Amino acid sequence: MCGIVAYKGRQNASEIIVPSLKKLEYRGYDSWGIAVINENNIEYVKKSGRIEGEDIEINLGDANIGIGHTRWATHGSVTDENAHPHLSNDGNVAVVHNGIIENYKELKKFLETNDFKFVSETDSEIIPNLIEYYCKNVRFKTAVKRTLKRIKGNYSIVAIERETGIICASRRGSPLVLGIGEDATFVASDIPAFLDYTTNVVYLYDGDIVLIDEEISFFNLDENVEVKREIEKIEWDAEQAKKGNFKHYMLKEISEQVDSIERAITQDKELIEGFAKDIKKARNVFLVACGSSYHASLHGSYLLGKNTSINAIPVLASEFKNYINFIDQESLIIVISQSGETVDVLDAVKMAKEQKGKVLAIVNVQGSSLTREVEKYILMNAGPEIGVLSTKTYTSQLAILSLISYSVNNKYKKGLKALKALIKYVYALTSKNTREYLKKLSRNLRYVEHIYTIGRNLEYPTALESALKIKEVSYIHAEGFAGGELKHGTIALIEKGTPCIVFVPEKNNEEIISNMIEVKSRGAYIIGIGSKNIEEFDFFIKVRDAGELNSICQIIPIQILAYHLAVMKGHDPDKPRNLAKSVTVK
Ligand code: M6R
Repeated sequence: MCGIVAYKGRQNASEIIVPSLKKLEYRGYDSWGIAVINENNIEYVKKSGRIEGEDIEINLGDANIGIGHTRWATHGSVTDENAHPHLSNDGNVAVVHNGIIENYKELKKFLETNDFKFVSETDSEIIPNLIEYYCKNVRFKTAVKRTLKRIKGNYSIVAIERETGIICASRRGSPLVLGIGEDATFVASDIPAFLDYTTNVVYLYDGDIVLIDEEISFFNLDENVEVKREIEKIEWDAEQAKKGNFKHYMLKEISEQVDSIERAITQDKELIEGFAKDIKKARNVFLVACGSSYHASLHGSYLLGKNTSINAIPVLASEFKNYINFIDQESLIIVISQSGETVDVLDAVKMAKEQKGKVLAIVNVQGSSLTREVEKYILMNAGPEIGVLSTKTYTSQLAILSLISYSVNNKYKKGLKALKALIKYVYALTSKNTREYLKKLSRNLRYVEHIYTIGRNLEYPTALESALKIKEVSYIHAEGFAGGELKHGTIALIEKGTPCIVFVPEKNNEEIISNMIEVKSRGAYIIGIGSKNIEEFDFFIKVRDAGELNSICQIIPIQILAYHLAVMKGHDPDKPRNLAKSVTVK
């Protein structure tokens, strides 16, 4: 995944593009670059590493048209040459690209036989050169169309032409959105890139090509016609996408959960009840997602199983093809995704639709690919989540799934009341006191090699999510288990001092307590999360009991713990190594 920004307006393009790129570094940050059209020349800078120090003030002269890219290498190592933008041999075209060109070898060979030279190891460098190749006979826009028709794979690209100053952008399976300001037009992979300038956006569809000249026009490659795309106003504001007084987005987003949960449950009643009706009507129900969103699916499946007679099967999106024989027009597939751009999720949607299944979604990013592929969707309304880890969006997913589950039982009102009551618990959990208390625990745990997390029933998905939160940001090996499962093998790894986090509900807790005693007696250091302190706990994290809604609260201290562990170990919690916010490649 990479970040793209393009600008055409009245201001200095480099001064706008570089800070905007910085806002997209969560999408990739191993190298970056910009190119602007300056007095009939394309001038550019390309650098390995992050945008740092004086980079932010780079000024490539008085140009007011430009493109920028922050890269997450997929094709070719991390070097200045491989960073984007890439230029055509004649220097007339510069391109930034996100995605993978599957037929790149064949296209490279074709260009080489036509005397084109390559300076990078990337597949992306094919694009400006193919455009140059076609520009010999046709205008820029047509050359871009012909180029895109030859490319296989998912992409989002922006190309600029030196001679005309035209910007041409296109997407297929990879996000790209336009920002329409008063005197400026932006193209970016994600809205926070231009939120300081405008909240008027145009979402591009797959196959769309947008031409930004004196006017803005749209063409769809698949339909082979000019198309109209509407300007939409988005609710997010620039402040939401900034760190404010927080050192990191992750901590800011953890602390925002009082508001994000409130917004998640402030939904159109009919929409929630509509989902509930669809669930009741379906012959079979699947909850499909990846990563943290999958843990939310598992939780949703347990909730429905516990409270209703619905058997909703949680499925990892990347494994969905194994369920395809069970999908027909009476099946309901609910996909859950923060970004709405995860390629495995989008593939699962495609497969489900091919089988004539009914596909709905719970998603955070309005206008994302997913919102366009499904019959209807519930927005999480969590606001932009910039930190790579899912934090506030995970609890929003749990809150929405809880509300749906209540609605399946015709208890929407009761559910809403219970969720509203929960918000004051969340308030205490995100307070400074709690954060300081958990800092102590982080100090105890910062040098450990392994952490195990256990929970039963609704606390099992929480155990899985806790382990994911800890390992992805602190790089400490963490593994989550169902309480009853540890003794089937992994207990062999427990030795004196091995930290084990245990989620203990107020009621029906005998079995998890007995699992805890099993590990405690092998020397484990027990970190207990629950409403009451128990003698076996070595460290106690108090979370008021919220019954079936416990999971929404219990994950919060772990998010905070994971954050402190990362900071204490000197890692950047917003950009963990090897990870990108949304996984748009297979
Ligand atoms: O955008 P999505 O919800 O589809 O993303 C799914 C996963 O990639 C995501 O939850 C990932 O596991 C995060 N790193 C979790 O913090």
